[in-house]
This record gives sequence, structure tokens and C-alpha cells, in this order.
Amino acid sequence: MRLDAYLARCTRLSRKEARRAVTAGRVTVAGQLARKASEPVPENTAVALDGEPVAIPGHLYLMLNKPAGVLSATTDASQPVVTDLLPDDLAARVHPVGRLDLDTTGLLLLTSDGQWSHRITSPRHHCPKTYRVTLKEPLTDDARHRLESGGLRLRNDDQVLRPASVATVSDRVVDLTITEGRYHQVKRMLAAVGNHVETLHRHHIGDLGLDPDLPPGEFRHLDDSEIDSL
Ligand code: URA
Repeated sequence: MRLDAYLARCTRLSRKEARRAVTAGRVTVAGQLARKASEPVPENTAVALDGEPVAIPGHLYLMLNKPAGVLSATTDASQPVVTDLLPDDLAARVHPVGRLDLDTTGLLLLTSDGQWSHRITSPRHHCPKTYRVTLKEPLTDDARHRLESGGLRLRNDDQVLRPASVATVSDRVVDLTITEGRYHQVKRMLAAVGNHVETLHRHHIGDLGLDPDLPPGEFRHLDDSEIDSL
């Protein structure tokens, strides 16, 4: 979309006023002074008018590479929370889509769209989530069979689990895909088969993978195909 059209869409300026604002040096695109009102605004580019960020109204969809030691919450009295890792204008609008434990790292989605978030987290939708799990002991054939065949019962939980899938990465590392989201589910599943989780990293939700170019603590906007894939 052209810059003047973009400004007209997300501010009270008409296109003509937007063109004047560009000429007057009031507009920046990706931090640089905009020179031409006809220049296209690439997706996910920061645009500011008089130093204030402007954005097309609509929902926000972000992926964050969650580091360990940060809570999957929007506020907490004593611990850092994932929205502390976002600029204030985004942090004020989004919530985490489900939760990762304090010590779990990796793919966490944040959005302002409650329906989208519900589709991903609702137990009725069985959205698969894949975790890279480092185990204390190599996984035995029997343990793998119990994880994969379903019917596993967690401590203090009446309902049995759906089948999970397990892919071996190395001796003590597996990729575990589950389609439910019980409390501490992966850790409790491995405990139920006599093993112990040493580290846990989520790298996929459905077909959406954590961007390998995103360092821990960094986020980016999802593109339309990523949003639709979920
Ligand atoms: N299962 C866990 O045990 N912890 C997480 O953070 C996510 C899934």
C-alpha cells in the first residue's frame, strides 16, 4: 500500500493531507524520514507521524521466542512477564496464547484476537504443539509406546491422555507432539513413564514453526499465511 493511502487509513488525515505531511517531513518509515508519499509501505514496517507510531487498526498477531525466567502473563508483581519484551504500544494490546512454564523456552504466540487464541488453546480443537524435550534418561521402548498409544493417566488427573507422537532426535532428546494442553503436561507425561524432563523448548504450534532467525527474547509479527495456518 502507498504511504499516503496507509496514513489516510490509520490517521484522520485525508490522502492530500497525508501527502503534505510527508513533504513537510512529519513522517518516518522504519525510522527514516519518508521522502515520497507514493512509496510502498512493506508489511510489518513501523510508520510514525510526528514521532507517534501509527498502524492500521486491526488485530495483532506476534510470535515470541520466549526465554527462560519470564512468565507467560501480562502482569506480575515480582517476576518479568512476556509482554515486558514488547514495545509498550503492542504490550498494552496483546495476551499470550496459552502458557509456557517459567523455565520452558521457545514459541509463544501473542495476540489481541480472542477468537483466534481460543481456537489454538481450546481442548476441543486439538491443535498440535511440538516440544523438543531433553530427558534425564534415554526413552525406553515401553515408555515410548505408552506415550504414543494414548490412555496415559497423569497424577491427580482423572482424564486419560490422547496419543502423542514421539520422534527421536538423539539419545536423550525427543520431539514430542501433543494435542492437549494440560497443566505441566509434558513434564507430567514423562514423569508418568518414569523419566524426567531436563529442558523443554516449544518449536511448533500446528504447522507454524519458531522463526530460526528470532533470538531468545525477540518477537516478530506473523504474516497473513501464518495467521491463517492456525
Ligand atoms: N508442558 C509442560 O510441562 N510445560 C510447558 O511449559 C509446556 C508443556
